[in-house]
Amino acid sequence: MQRTLVLIKPDGVARRLVGKIIARFEEKGLWILGMKHMAMSQEIADRHYAEHKEKPFFGDLCSFMTSSPLVALVLEGPESIALVRKLVGATKVAEAAPGTIRGDFALSTQQNLIHASDSPESAEREIAIWFGDSELADYKPCD
Ligand code: CMP
Repeated sequence: MQRTLVLIKPDGVARRLVGKIIARFEEKGLWILGMKHMAMSQEIADRHYAEHKEKPFFGDLCSFMTSSPLVALVLEGPESIALVRKLVGATKVAEAAPGTIRGDFALSTQQNLIHASDSPESAEREIAIWFGDSELADYKPCD
């Protein structure tokens, strides 16, 4: 079993796609261990996107991500990190295949609906930014 962090970005919330996006993960069989609807502060943005700090799009990305509430999720399932990224689709809008969440619903590389952890190290780091241990369900999902 593996855990991963997913953010349904402000565009996903504003477009009322939260239910549809979560349904894709649940229908695949992933378990929701934690979920919260909240705003991303600049302090959280600096930590969450630390690896992008020097990128030219960092300022715009932070403005967008802190502009209105998002939904943060911790999902669990076998190989959930790679699996979720496959369900989400490529970051660049023109490369996101039809059938993926971005391929079906996103029209912008920045406002691309979802963030999903890209490695076990990122998942561990990102989950700790968004959730305390006591905020995550401690049941053992069965299949
Ligand atoms: P995310 O998976 O949240 O990780 C970094 C984010 O930066 C990415 O999704 C996009 O929202 C954004 N991003 C990545 N590349 C670009 C780019 N070339 N131009 C603008 N935004 C980008």
